[in-house]
Amino acid sequence: MEKVIEIQHLSKSFGAHEVLKDIDFSVKKGEVVCIIGSSGSGKSTLLRCINLLEKPSGGQIIYQGENILDNKHDIHSYRTKLGMVFQQFNLFNNHNVLGNCSVGQVKVLKRSKEEAEKIALKYLNVVGMDGYVNAKPKQLSGGQKQRVAIARALSMEPDVMLFDEPTSALDPEMVGEVLKVMKELANTGLTMLIVTHEMEFAKEVSDRVVFMDKGVIAEEGPPKQIFNNPLQDRTREFLKRTLK
Ligand SMILES: Nc1ncnc2c1ncn2[C@@H]1O[C@H](COP(=O)(O)OP(=O)(O)O)[C@@H](O)[C@H]1O
Ligand SMILES: [Mg+2]
Repeated sequence: MEKVIEIQHLSKSFGAHEVLKDIDFSVKKGEVVCIIGSSGSGKSTLLRCINLLEKPSGGQIIYQGENILDNKHDIHSYRTKLGMVFQQFNLFNNHNVLGNCSVGQVKVLKRSKEEAEKIALKYLNVVGMDGYVNAKPKQLSGGQKQRVAIARALSMEPDVMLFDEPTSALDPEMVGEVLKVMKELANTGLTMLIVTHEMEFAKEVSDRVVFMDKGVIAEEGPPKQIFNNPLQDRTREFLKRTLK
């Protein structure tokens, strides 16, 4: 299958602290990959390097056959191809739901307002939030805000969706509605890279699970291998701590 993004020898340091060490990793078209690992293992930094919210210290990010870390590369057009969903939603509080899902399309993709709103409605429908187009973020529950944030990212029609612990800031009773939307998206063939602590979810939706430990990919494989029969002691120890 075609690789959407391929990372080679990626490293990232903050001062003397090497947070990512020689990461090789790729995501194929239509693949759902979950990244698990302890807090501080480098999961968020990896996602942030992939979408260039952080500048990698070394290595390559290959997208459509080119290393996008080459100086000559158009980083802006690359970044529009990646949708990002954060733990803290990051909605625009001064815009209503429809605005949240359409302003980026107009500003960045130069779509007309009319077209952008039509596309926004389509994705608000996918996440079950089309009944709230006029609501402001502060009127929504956490689960609703996160579903709008997902619709906003989808409205840019990216090649890959990146999720960084999308349910970690939610009250427990709202986790299910967001995971349900994400499961539905996974079933549509969307390419997804998801950092999560939701192990049952990871087991169910992933084509592949990546276990990170201290800045390296310690083990990766199908969910059956990682959860039922991990090859590495540190994977086993992490799961024992997490699943108890
Ligand atoms: N902007 C930053 N400046 C300095 N250190 C950072 C920064 N961002 C992350 N780190 C450090 O990098 C390590 C990995 O962090 P992170 O990628 O957030 O881990 P995870 O998402 O797996 O919890 C941690 O030790 C964290 O303190
Ligand atoms: Mg994190």
